[in-house]
Amino acid sequence: TLPRSVTVYEVGPRDGLQNESTVVPAAVKAEFVRRLAAAGLGTIETTSFVDPRWVPQLADAEEVLGLLGDEGRGARRPVLVPNERGLDRALTAGVGAVAIFGSATETFARRNLNRTVEESVEMFRPVVERSRAEGLWVRAYVSMCFGDPWEGPVPVARVVDVCRRLMDLGCDELSLGDTIGVGTTGHVHRLLAALDGAGIGPERVGVHFHDTYGQALANTVAALRDGVTVVDASTGGLGGCPYAKSATGNLATEDLVWALEGAGVSTGTDLDALVATSTWMAGHLGRPSPSRVVRALAGG
Ligand code: HMG
Ligand code: MG
Repeated sequence: TLPRSVTVYEVGPRDGLQNESTVVPAAVKAEFVRRLAAAGLGTIETTSFVDPRWVPQLADAEEVLGLLGDEGRGARRPVLVPNERGLDRALTAGVGAVAIFGSATETFARRNLNRTVEESVEMFRPVVERSRAEGLWVRAYVSMCFGDPWEGPVPVARVVDVCRRLMDLGCDELSLGDTIGVGTTGHVHRLLAALDGAGIGPERVGVHFHDTYGQALANTVAALRDGVTVVDASTGGLGGCPYAKSATGNLATEDLVWALEGAGVSTGTDLDALVATSTWMAGHLGRPSPSRVVRALAGG
């Protein structure tokens, strides 16, 4: 069975905009977050406090949060933070929630974080400790949970091991990243079962599917049937990781909302307002939304 309602964890302003060749002005980013909130999205990942040389698209994190004021703060406005330098910046900006982001594979840990898996866990340790001491909500992402563009298939046991190590740091929620969108429903089921067996039940797990192979929605529904109730999605289907070959957009929030509301699962969002937001953002990005639902409802 499906849950009666889900929490949509919106990643458009972060995962979406980090991967666009067009650098969007801070004022447009802040307006994007405001429009998403007005469309009913409760949780919105607003930006990243990573090294700006690594992700120039989000180098204006302080400015965006400054423009948002209280609308960018609180436990439901997480930001990405890789290290203590990022946490210092995020705390100065007044955030109430952070997300660390590890990798199930060594190759991607090196490419995305310039660290081994072990070194990245040690980099995150003080971030999580200090965040908890400050009363912040903490999420742990794990990338390449289903496959890696350099290493190929990733064994479930390895993914569970990395998830366990990050959750043991004291994180509130785990997000399973299919960074390159290769996962399929049986694999989702096996991974969730293995995590449950390792003491990480579906009530603490979110799913983060990129839609490269068109499997994101099917995989999400499979995860919901296994007890997951937090779903990452990106309005307009923007997204991708500049450090992962072949990563395309996330599951589009509109596609998710269309499917779930149709199945009687409440998302608390206004689909027309989301579509209008994607159409507006497409104007700033100079390209149409890849979402089929957006194209259908916006009339091409
Ligand atoms: P590094 O070069 O090893 O960093 O990068 P370092 O610790 O050696 O520091 C070098 C310099 O960078 C220092 O400056 C630091 O101050 C500065 P210097 O002394 O040379 O002048 N620095 C910073 N400046 C500002 N903010 C910071 C910061 N950190 C260091 N936070 C590092 C290591 C982790 C910083 C780098 O690799 C990095 O920023 N990586 C982030 C890459 C990224 O953002 N990728 C996309 C997000 S992950 C994703 O999209 C996947 C996800 O969606 C899930 C999925 O789909 O699977 C979450
Ligand atoms: Mg992602």
